[in-house]
Amino acid sequence: MEEKRKIRIGVIGCGQIARTRHIPELHSSRIAEIAGFYDFIPEHAQDMSRQYGGKVYEQYKDMLDDSQVDGVVICTSNDSHAAISIEALQKGKYVLCEKPMCTTLEDAAAVVKADRESSAFYMAAHNQRFNLGNSKARELLQSGKMGKVLAFKCTLAHSGPERYSINRSNSTWYLNKKASGLGCISDLGIHKCDVIQYTLGESFTQVSAFAGTRDKKDPFGNPADIYDNAVCILKTESGVMGSINLSYTNYGPMENSIVYYCEKGAVKVQYYPDCILEVVMDGGEKIRFMSPEHPSSGVAENFAEAIADGKASPVGAEEAYKALRVVFAIEESARTGQIVNL
Ligand SMILES: NC(=O)c1ccc[n+]([C@@H]2O[C@H](COP(=O)([O-])OP(=O)(O)OC[C@H]3O[C@@H](n4cnc5c(N)ncnc54)[C@H](O)[C@@H]3O)[C@@H](O)[C@H]2O)c1
Repeated sequence: MEEKRKIRIGVIGCGQIARTRHIPELHSSRIAEIAGFYDFIPEHAQDMSRQYGGKVYEQYKDMLDDSQVDGVVICTSNDSHAAISIEALQKGKYVLCEKPMCTTLEDAAAVVKADRESSAFYMAAHNQRFNLGNSKARELLQSGKMGKVLAFKCTLAHSGPERYSINRSNSTWYLNKKASGLGCISDLGIHKCDVIQYTLGESFTQVSAFAGTRDKKDPFGNPADIYDNAVCILKTESGVMGSINLSYTNYGPMENSIVYYCEKGAVKVQYYPDCILEVVMDGGEKIRFMSPEHPSSGVAENFAEAIADGKASPVGAEEAYKALRVVFAIEESARTGQIVNL
């Protein structure tokens, strides 16, 4: 039987997330292989090519013009996501783009349009959807076994991206508004706004928030112009209400969890230090699922599989737009002091 050709993926932006997630996962994929790399700091692409093989492109446009490339993974700073995604889609390349989709809702609408008009598709790298705890929580909550979901509580708090960006300093793009967007609101909040809507199977309709810059500094020692903390209260169309705490200034152990309070018990998805789904039924019965150690994120594999099988995008542009709208509503509420209706 003829062996199927592997899906050939180019990587644009070869920093921390490309190195720790996408490149190793593509390298070990059954169905995808790495075509090559581009980074505007050429050494970053060259390092990856030496380690994994594959071409180094001088411009990302050269990668998009290469007929041997089926799709691209975009792992650059947020301000460049929209332009690269749109150009790739227009050239018929499949796009897996890191979150957030981009830094303005206008750009996000332009990506949605380019996606609709393209022969390929856009996928948002909303990896938390593929996490075992979240997929099981979604299955469980949507099965009705826990009764109605009444409320939720979510936290994502770590010590700041200047501690993991490939540029480990305050001059990282993450602490700059133009390159990042909304700081922790868009960087961390997008994960949780997306995964909670996805898990509940419904949309947020009302948002209220406080946000501020409590501690992070720009390279000159002035307060950074991004938000480093946000406390948000949200409500869905059916009335599920909850809070999302986002922080870049948690200098203790990282916190990353969501608890759904339901009629028949509580469902907790915890990501750190272990990936655990804990279900505690009203009455005390406890069920625990552990994720395997260092699981693959599943993002690249789902992307490549959908291309190979001619399926729809696993996390389409409209889904990404829907999560980004909530992120911008959080910022609007924090800025205006008003509850924002979506
Ligand atoms: N899904 C997740 O859990 C997750 C985790 C971390 C980062 N991210 C996202 O991944 C993206 C990259 O983050 P990171 O932590 O790897 O950042 P990073 O600073 O470590 O690396 C960014 C890399 O992209 C390059 N780059 C930046 N802008 C570019 C451009 N316009 N053209 C070409 N190269 C460019 C830089 O030189 C650097 O090598 C961001 O959008 C971030 O929000 C997602």
